[in-house]
Amino acid sequence: MERVYNFSAGPATMPLPVLKKARSELLAHEGHGMSVMEMSHRSAMFEEIISGAEEMLRRLMHIPDTYSVLFLQGGASLQFAAVPMNLMGEKGRADYVKTGVWAKKAIEQAKTYGEINVAASSEDRNFAYVPKLEKGAFDPGAAYVHITTNNTICGTRYTGLPDTGDVPLVADASSDILAQERDVGRFGLIYAGAQKNIGPAGLTIVIVRKDLIGNAMPKTPFMLDYATHDKAGSLYNTPPTFAIYMAKLVFEWLDGLGGVTAIEQANRHKAALLYDFIDNSSLYTGTADRQDRSLMCVPFLLPTKELTEEFVSEAEKNGLVNLKGHRSVGGVRACIYNAMPEEGVKALIAFMQRFESNNG
Ligand SMILES: Cc1ncc(COP(=O)(O)O)c(C=O)c1O
Repeated sequence: MERVYNFSAGPATMPLPVLKKARSELLAHEGHGMSVMEMSHRSAMFEEIISGAEEMLRRLMHIPDTYSVLFLQGGASLQFAAVPMNLMGEKGRADYVKTGVWAKKAIEQAKTYGEINVAASSEDRNFAYVPKLEKGAFDPGAAYVHITTNNTICGTRYTGLPDTGDVPLVADASSDILAQERDVGRFGLIYAGAQKNIGPAGLTIVIVRKDLIGNAMPKTPFMLDYATHDKAGSLYNTPPTFAIYMAKLVFEWLDGLGGVTAIEQANRHKAALLYDFIDNSSLYTGTADRQDRSLMCVPFLLPTKELTEEFVSEAEKNGLVNLKGHRSVGGVRACIYNAMPEEGVKALIAFMQRFESNNG
């Protein structure tokens, strides 16, 4: 069957070799006579899968032993609540940087659990940039500082990390986890929904410094307390077993390519191809400031709504799908996550070229 190039923001395209491997193991996993979907999460077979996934993720991200890796559910959105419930502690206040729609949602949710200070914001220009963050921007008495490393909707990213001193830095890395080298030691906690760079939806990864576990607010549901999952090795209840298995296959695929260093190089190259084309075109205009442009999510505009609609529908006829921009930015958005091959980006550029010469 013919596959398309899928530029969806998430659930997003998966590496083809991973899908093929999963297909080959779907009915009987490694001689066990059953699919991973049918295995008990308490079985030795599944234990091997979850511990293998953790080991591989630790290796890819160089996660120090002082951090726990948790395989959870509820999406990044549930972490908008879990983070303050677990980290707010007696300090009762936290700093947030408002760089997009998802950061805004994280802020709204966190307000339920403490005093939230918006240390910096780029809302004045519809989140087209990442604000400069001097150390003085943060409250030294805050329980943590929250950032969104890649802003999926407006297509910006942090090119460097803010210095928050002794205050733990917390990152929603849903749309750029594993896309570029980052020093995990700079963070108190990193969380990400799986459905962009890790695997199928239904799995959420939390990487948390061990000393930050165990201080959840009174009445925190057990399922939202990191200590519960840390103690149980992410097996307190039934985890999303098949999604964890798929994540393990994606981690192995990435490792086989040369790990995060290699994929970062590929990502920089893919993004440069697309941005260079946009910058040299007279039909398309990028929406994010150049210095903060995302390697993963590339939003751009065409001159009119009609032309935009025609672009998206023509692209679809050419096997380039899910290019409609988010309603808050409009235009077109191409998400080019780890699993999007360079050929996909080149096919998109070739189409954009043709469309421009027909409509320019
Ligand atoms: C940066 C970011 N944070 C959070 C979310 C919400 O994730 P979930 O649907 O897993 O709750 C998304 C989804 O696209 C996102 O891009």
